[in-house]
Amino acid sequence: MKIERVWQIYFSATGTTEKIVKTITGEIAASAGLEVLTYDFTLPAARESFPGLGPADIAVIGLPTYAGRLPNLMLPYLQSIRGGGALAVPVVTFGNRAFDNSLIELRNILEMQDFHTIAGGAFSCEHSFSYDLGAGRPDADDLAEAADFGRSIAKKLQEICESGIIPQPVQVDGDPEAGYYQPRDRKGVFIDIRKVKPLTDPNKCVDCGLCARTCPMGAIDPSDVSNVPGKCIKCCSCYKKCPTGAKYFEDSGYLYHKEELEAMYGVRRAENKVFL
Ligand SMILES: Cc1cc2nc3c(=O)[nH]c(=O)nc-3n(C[C@H](O)[C@H](O)[C@H](O)COP(=O)(O)O)c2cc1C
Ligand code: SF4
Ligand code: SF4
Repeated sequence: MKIERVWQIYFSATGTTEKIVKTITGEIAASAGLEVLTYDFTLPAARESFPGLGPADIAVIGLPTYAGRLPNLMLPYLQSIRGGGALAVPVVTFGNRAFDNSLIELRNILEMQDFHTIAGGAFSCEHSFSYDLGAGRPDADDLAEAADFGRSIAKKLQEICESGIIPQPVQVDGDPEAGYYQPRDRKGVFIDIRKVKPLTDPNKCVDCGLCARTCPMGAIDPSDVSNVPGKCIKCCSCYKKCPTGAKYFEDSGYLYHKEELEAMYGVRRAENKVFL
């Protein structure tokens, strides 16, 4: 059995998942002498197709954790892709709280879609909603851990290629049957942020159009960026990428949840976890 290419495949609205996936992939490629190929499915147009993978490929596939699982609006796409017998490494990121059940969900989907998962990882990053929660992560220590993980994967890959035996699906933490993480307010009532959308400060917006071009849901009207007619997943791409800081959220439930997360998890450093 011979592996020739390593793919870095990811959805990454604010760029942290991309950094982790690329670090792991780069190290696998360097250690195993493989060609690197990239497929970024963050934007809607990219989710209309998927590269043709086969038994000579290994793919590192990354997504962020949203509400303790994978972003639910990405599920139709993930359930449509085909691995063609490629090896795979599911990777999730999370924002200093917990990855809960996102990694096992991704592992299970990839196995269903004709990938063979040989390792998995969950990496703590800066939370999409916040600049304080997991601030600046992945930092140098996280990237060093991701690189170590890449080297361990390359070693495992060599063993698989020498033996010709594809191992059982990687065992990872999580409960695939568990529901989504639901924030609650002071009175214990569930906070529902599904309909929340970002607002635009007209005094700050310079109408550069970047938010509309980079919205993973294509939700922002490019002819009037203050108008968000599409589905918003609160990925915070527009909020964090806007060069003038014109995007903001006003919904009281959303802001309460963000501030509570910062108060509960802001001071700690959640650990990364890998499975081989
Ligand atoms: C809607 C939403 C829900 C999230 N839910 C969680 C969560 O349950 N646990 C957690 O630790 N981080 C959570 N996060 C934070 C992201 O998982 C984290 O910031 C991730 O690194 C973002 O990846 P990206 O930079 O590739 O977009 C959530 C982020 C968003 C936008
Ligand atoms: S990225 Fe910011 S400045 Fe540019 S159009 Fe969007 S809101 Fe306006
Ligand atoms: S409008 Fe919503 S989905 Fe689009 S970039 Fe902004 S937060 Fe993300």
